[in-house]
Amino acid sequence: MKSTSDFKKMKQKNEKVVMLTAYDHPSAQLAEQAGIDVILVGDSLGMVVLGYETTAAVTVDDMIHHGKAVRRGAKETFVVVDMPFGSYHGSEDRTLEAAVRIFQETGANALKLEGSGKVIDTIRLLTSTGIPVVAHLGLLPQSAAVEGGYKVQGKTAAAAEQLIRDAVACEAAGACMIVLECIPYQLGEQVSKAVSVPTIGIGAGAETDGQVLVFHDTIKYGNHHIPKFVETYANVGDDIRAGLEEYVAAVKSGAFPSEAHRFTMKEDELVALYG
Ligand code: KIV
Ligand code: NA
Repeated sequence: MKSTSDFKKMKQKNEKVVMLTAYDHPSAQLAEQAGIDVILVGDSLGMVVLGYETTAAVTVDDMIHHGKAVRRGAKETFVVVDMPFGSYHGSEDRTLEAAVRIFQETGANALKLEGSGKVIDTIRLLTSTGIPVVAHLGLLPQSAAVEGGYKVQGKTAAAAEQLIRDAVACEAAGACMIVLECIPYQLGEQVSKAVSVPTIGIGAGAETDGQVLVFHDTIKYGNHHIPKFVETYANVGDDIRAGLEEYVAAVKSGAFPSEAHRFTMKEDELVALYG
């Protein structure tokens, strides 16, 4: 199992950190077998697995339920679990209660929080409690309703400078990694130079210390919208549909089940039964 200091060393050696989301046991197993460095149980769970329109519907219990399944499927991989919408913006007590529950019950290696401002204090609070924290700056899906949608962030010099300051503050507060979502690649590079912890980009260009993608986007599974910054590396949705159509056709035609799939009774038992 890699540790937060291993990821820092990877950055020093210019070795890319590969992060992928996973939400259940088989996806976590496959991610681990493929050599993914960090598995993120993202609250994108809400959209890609649970069928909600946004991440705002996802609860602490949802994250725990799926986080536990991922942990069981990927025992040797560093697992990060998202704190969901609204679970870290109330009192310190309430935040700590949610964070400790998610961390203890899932057995995650770190929790991820979106945003800066007061969230910087929360990063410090969790880190001082002994919970490693991954920061998340740039596009913040949990704030999409307030921001009026999903837009590229940090496009002006002023916004870019603020984002760099926020990243530095996240590191100072103890963040062990920083996810950068949907920012110009030039800013992705600047932020990565400004901090010593790895930056993990999604729609943030090639200069970040690592990349993260959503499992279902990467392999084209499900019919949700796939953003511009995603590359797909398989098309399992089509494979699954074709397989299921074959199953339907085989049952309808009587081709399945065949003799190979059936169980049988011995002759004397049949005689005893029917005479
Ligand atoms: O929930 C998620 O999948 C994420 C990644 C896109 C970084 O937060
Ligand atoms: Na997320």
